[in-house]
Amino acid sequence: MLSLLCHSAAGDTAASEFLPNSERRGLAIENILTWDAVAKAHNAKPGEQDIGFEFRFQNKTSGEIRIKRADSSCGCTVARLPNLPWVITAGQKGGIPVTMDIRGKSGIITKTITIVTDKGIILLKARVAIGSTSKTLTKRSKEERAANLRAAAQNRQAIFQGKCVDCHVKPTVGKQGKQLYATACGICHESKNRAPFVPDLRPLANGKDKQYWQQWTAQSKPNTLMPAFAKEHGGSLDEKQIKSLVAYLLRIFPRELKTRRAITQRNKPALK
Ligand code: HEC
Ligand code: HEC
Repeated sequence: MLSLLCHSAAGDTAASEFLPNSERRGLAIENILTWDAVAKAHNAKPGEQDIGFEFRFQNKTSGEIRIKRADSSCGCTVARLPNLPWVITAGQKGGIPVTMDIRGKSGIITKTITIVTDKGIILLKARVAIGSTSKTLTKRSKEERAANLRAAAQNRQAIFQGKCVDCHVKPTVGKQGKQLYATACGICHESKNRAPFVPDLRPLANGKDKQYWQQWTAQSKPNTLMPAFAKEHGGSLDEKQIKSLVAYLLRIFPRELKTRRAITQRNKPALK
């Protein structure tokens, strides 16, 4: 299952050339875990969409270390952990696979993955340099965007049809949870460029119930430009995907913002 998302070996080789010496060596971070590197980088080849990294570690202390969870600075970057808490015994080695979805991104992007353990927090950084070819992947001209908007105004389900599928559906195929959010919803709701009538979901996520997310995702509301994603309404997502999305939006999504704020506050001086 993991291997589907992680072609990390290639990523790592390219990565080490890209990194300053200080980041290539193993680092002991406040006696938490010893890592092969806390920052990794990759040069994306044209057409690459999911970039895999693996951050390898060893517990060189004499005691147990518990990994409680991993948070990332954006829905496009996901760290996969086994059942939590993940107990790392003395001497034990392991690896954390991280996948970054770079659809629609360009330039150099750096994402932080925060590993929260019972001994403290570790910040891992994954950086991807994206060349000019992938830049055009979700870039649209003004005219194209206006035409898309007209199509959506006539039929809010238009994104599931014709050429719209390339950007609005294909990247979501086979995805669940956080990655599904990033590709199916994030394309509109997390875009820096988004139209003023597309709301920012993060500030309003707190305290929303299952019904709210289920309703908006599956059926949406008539006379809005928010598409209905359920297959029965002509959408692209099956029941299992919608379930995974609602679970993510309900439990993890509101917390991500809080954790991110808390960590940025706490680590401000250290990060400079
Ligand atoms: C080349 C990729 C691409 C294609 C093809 C595409 N879209 Fe989009 N769409 C985007 C992106 C990216 C955004 C987020 C806004 C931005 O960053 O431009 C977006 C946003 C939207 C929005 C929200 C309003 C806005 O402009 O911010 C609507 C509605 C929409 N698309 C409808 C459509 C429809 C309908 C089609 C097909 C006729 C379509 N899109 C085809 C990439 C695409
Ligand atoms: C094509 C762009 C587009 C995509 C893709 C999209 N949305 Fe929306 N969404 C909108 C727009 C536009 C609105 C504003 C609707 C209105 O007029 O109230 C909206 C509104 C919402 C609201 C209501 C917020 C409120 O005011 O309470 C929720 C919740 C929401 N979207 C969730 C999602 C989820 C979850 C996904 C992914 C499955 C998603 N959206 C994908 C465009 C989009």
